[in-house]
Amino acid sequence: MPKRYDESKTGALDALHVENRVFRPDPQTVIEANVTPDDLEAALALAAADPLAYWERAAEELEWHRRWERVLDDDDPPRFRWFAGGRVNIAHNALDRHARSGNKNRLALIWEGEAGDCRKFTYYELFREVNRLANAFRSLGLVRGDRVTLYMPPLPETLIAMLAAAKVGASHSLVFAGFSARFLRQRINDARSKILVTADGFYRGGRVIPLKPVVDDALHGVHGGCAETVLVVPRVGIDVEMTAPRDLFYHDVVRRESAEAACAAMESDDELFVLFTSGTTGRPKAVAHAHGGFMVGVHHTFREVFDVKPTDIYFCTADPGWITGHAYGIYGPLLAGATSIMYEGHPLYPQADRLWSMVARHGVTALYTTPTLLRLLMRYGPQYPKKHDLSTLRILGSVGEPIGAETWLWLHKHIGRSRCPVLDTWWQTETGMMMISPLPISPLKPGSVGKPLPGIAADVVDAAGNSLPPGKGGFLVIKKPWPGMFKEPTEDMGEARACLSDYWNRIPGMYFAGDMAHRDEDGYYFIQGRADDVLNIAGRRMGTAELEAALLSHRGVAEAAVIGLPDRIKGQVAKAFVAPVPGYEAQFDGEDGLRADIARHVRRELGPIVAFKAIEFRESLPHTRSGKILRRALRDGELGVERDEGETLEDE
Ligand code: WTA
Repeated sequence: MPKRYDESKTGALDALHVENRVFRPDPQTVIEANVTPDDLEAALALAAADPLAYWERAAEELEWHRRWERVLDDDDPPRFRWFAGGRVNIAHNALDRHARSGNKNRLALIWEGEAGDCRKFTYYELFREVNRLANAFRSLGLVRGDRVTLYMPPLPETLIAMLAAAKVGASHSLVFAGFSARFLRQRINDARSKILVTADGFYRGGRVIPLKPVVDDALHGVHGGCAETVLVVPRVGIDVEMTAPRDLFYHDVVRRESAEAACAAMESDDELFVLFTSGTTGRPKAVAHAHGGFMVGVHHTFREVFDVKPTDIYFCTADPGWITGHAYGIYGPLLAGATSIMYEGHPLYPQADRLWSMVARHGVTALYTTPTLLRLLMRYGPQYPKKHDLSTLRILGSVGEPIGAETWLWLHKHIGRSRCPVLDTWWQTETGMMMISPLPISPLKPGSVGKPLPGIAADVVDAAGNSLPPGKGGFLVIKKPWPGMFKEPTEDMGEARACLSDYWNRIPGMYFAGDMAHRDEDGYYFIQGRADDVLNIAGRRMGTAELEAALLSHRGVAEAAVIGLPDRIKGQVAKAFVAPVPGYEAQFDGEDGLRADIARHVRRELGPIVAFKAIEFRESLPHTRSGKILRRALRDGELGVERDEGETLEDE
């Protein structure tokens, strides 16, 4: 029987399918692009000859309080410091700069609530709102180096709070509004946040989702000094319990503040924000991004890849709580002086054409979204996009998981009218910026993320770090530092900090992304999925260890293993195998009752975004001889992959 897997220890998959279709760019797009083919050639040449000169030019496009002394301080790898000695504040470049220029009265943000209500802000208006909140933060005792936790749905105040924190030099930590009280508590403690900003609730799927009660629950048992002040944005107008003097309504606090506020002049390497993500080991860890490098990387790639012009209306569907929302939902468009759209609610509300209706009503020109969302909408058929005039669209982008040729072609045909380039962008929370992506001028291959952007030294290698030839699957690595790369949060975060050496020591001297990839003869990259114990469910990274820990904290669970399985919509789904404590199901209505109780328990522990496709009971789970649970055997069993006779279990 032919082997479906390259059964070497890397677990690498060889290319099963070679993509031969090529979509060439429309000539008008090429002529008008921010980066023309000649520009690209020059950029690639400069970046290859002198990468630091390349990134220095990118930094010169922005305003600095003080110019850097060194483009890259690499004295202590992998703790690279970009634009060392420079002073800068991303909020100055995202807002103040525009508010004092010809961009002043341009629309910065169009926010649409789920019910259809709209709020619009020009750059000047947003600047004034941010200043008020920055002053309020200062009045509440927030100083440079502190952290603010934001437990916020997609609201204008989410963006305002991020920029206000940046302005005063505090770092923000956004916790997605779908996470549980336990998660939120842990993250407030980890970040040692003095201030928490939240909303009373928000609208999603036609329902009010209350947030303040979750906050109240989370704040029981937070460490002393954490969340001493809670600002509440009244979004839905439900009654909330306000505990004096801790809880304050947002508008009461900002009302008395001035609309002028100065930016703290930050060191380029100072922390701008932290985000938690499932990395190479264990529970989610906090990665940090700095004002200078992140700003340069995001600004540069946003203009390069999305080709944004002053006339563009750009719509990123990602929640602000994920890196995509941070980098290309909020900071990127503001840095570029573009107009962007933020949507509060569910993409199927009131029906499956919500996004297309928004594109038509606002005249969206660039749309950045995810394969999961597209696959969800595809199920409803092309009649939904057909109902709307999508002719303003000129660029389509995808991120977060492998899109696959089928979804790519649907997007290209039904949304892009076979005219808009579909740009599949590969990057990560840790990379902070797009790394591998086509440009609007590139010939495109469905299902491929194109080639590394200029200045990005990507490669596909074997476990020893040797470059692999076309068609051979291997590890995706980056061989040189880049400006958006993450840094470790400050030491006060202790154990919660992601560790740079976990990423740079796996294959010495290279950044190990944790993804498998292969290239074709033309150098186009194809991403095959994760190499480590991380699942990518609907574009959200979850460690199997984290899910297993939640299962094991249920008293009826003796042993648990979680595997990822392919799924047509979500890319991957989680399946749990549980060995129950013998006799425990007697306390329930048999096995089904226990199963439902475990599912409820995990939901309570981790929040509503975590759901198992199935929980299967087994008397015992398979183990390696060294006692590790054999997740691969469970996965192969599910996928019907035959295992070689006599295969040793020892190396798994
Ligand atoms: C996956 C999201 C295939 C990958 C910006 C990566 C992708 C992880 C793509 C990062 C893509 C991201 N094609 N897979 N275009 N983009 N991924 O940190 O496994 O939420 O390592 O960052 O998503 O997820 P994260």
